[in-house]
Amino acid sequence: MDEPANNSKISESIITVDGPSGAGKGTLCQLLAKKLGWHLLDSGALYRVLGIAAHRHGICLSDIDELARIARDMDLYFKINEVSGEVEPFFEGSNLADFIRTDEAGQAASKVAALLPVREALLEKQRAFYQKPGLIADGRDMGTTVFPDSAVKVFLTASAECRAERRVEQLKSKGVSANMRAIFDSIKARDERDRTRKNSPLVPAKEALIVDSSNMTIDEVLSQVIEFAEKKLLAVK
Ligand code: C5P
Repeated sequence: MDEPANNSKISESIITVDGPSGAGKGTLCQLLAKKLGWHLLDSGALYRVLGIAAHRHGICLSDIDELARIARDMDLYFKINEVSGEVEPFFEGSNLADFIRTDEAGQAASKVAALLPVREALLEKQRAFYQKPGLIADGRDMGTTVFPDSAVKVFLTASAECRAERRVEQLKSKGVSANMRAIFDSIKARDERDRTRKNSPLVPAKEALIVDSSNMTIDEVLSQVIEFAEKKLLAVK
């Protein structure tokens, strides 16, 4: 039988990675999860699904009580696609993988994410993603609000220009044409909303390692984070 949960042991096996969109958190977290054999929480996907759910159910973004109710009760689960290896969200039985990564879904997510009752409704859902042997948590407030005791906290950032260029390249590689100016403006608007909101704004946790990935390869980011995590985890042992 599993040992009973011990909070200090749990916090030693959580790595939080926060930062603005396009900084490379998703890729870094997937690599960390694979390397350590730990589970992964993509918390942004929860907010993105909620934005889409609101749209599908015709709920206006100002109807805070109804949004919080959906956040609390939503019929959502995640499944690994056996071909691509990607984690896909299923909402009310339908696969939303093709819809959640659009710019509109990101903007809607950032609007619902500013509402305190919505954040409260999703708090325990996010914590419930913890499973042995450990969790890599990707988001905006993983180290500050959702897992404030996690032993290893990272804040990954990059200039807005660099993040917009990466997004354009990513879209081009999928054969989708992209307008650099529109993408840059959208990133700036989402950054501004996420950084200035009252509830769990996007700020680094005090003890976070801050990594600016603007001029780094993903392998360089990964080794810097692993080195930091090893030091931190040795210090708490
Ligand atoms: O990370 P991702 O770009 O998928 O997140 C979409 C939006 O969801 C963010 O712009 C942010 O407003 C919100 N979010 C949040 N807290 C998190 C994760 C995402 O507010 N932990």
